[in-house]
Amino acid sequence: MSIEVLLNEFKEAAASPAKLLKEYKAAGKKVVGVLPYYAPEELVYAAGIVPMGIWGSNTKTINRAAALAVIAYVPGLSGQGDAPLTESQAAGWEMFDAGIAAQTFCLAARDLGIGTCILGIFDAGAAGRLLELEGLRPACLIAMGYPEQWKNGPGRKETEELLSFR
Ligand SMILES: Cc1cc2nc3c(=O)[nH]c(=O)nc-3n(C[C@H](O)[C@H](O)[C@H](O)COP(=O)(O)O)c2cc1C
Repeated sequence: MSIEVLLNEFKEAAASPAKLLKEYKAAGKKVVGVLPYYAPEELVYAAGIVPMGIWGSNTKTINRAAALAVIAYVPGLSGQGDAPLTESQAAGWEMFDAGIAAQTFCLAARDLGIGTCILGIFDAGAAGRLLELEGLRPACLIAMGYPEQWKNGPGRKETEELLSFR
């Protein structure tokens, strides 16, 4: 089978997982939902069951967001200084900076009554091309909306549950 045919099959499967699920079930196969990256899919296959990812897309969040921001960085350049990145942690400093920027952005948005959700799962290459981010690499997207329109959002843990001092 040619690569092109295979890629088209993948594309179709990725575009309509519900259809694929119906086909598996119609063929009498057992299917189990798995969290991508963490599930040992080879073992699931070995047990005669088809693993299907049930997490890994932000389509709904992105489509419903009132606005989207992109936090991008210049590869190799970090706020820790102008010198070339040489320390042992150097490989990650740009993402460290992007994390600081994302959190500051979210806190500032919250102050204006805007809710946010940081999204790490997205097609960074496609986002870069779409926004013509030459020389910049997208680190994350931030979906924004008005929390008062979404009363059924997940609850929040109390700060004391999440923070401890030692
Ligand atoms: C680096 C990073 C990447 C994330 N990526 C995603 C994502 O792709 N999709 C998603 O639904 N949540 C993602 N999250 C989680 C949400 O942004 C958010 O932190 C989580 O829903 C908890 O919300 P809360 O902090 O308001 O309680 C990510 C969080 C971080 C810090």
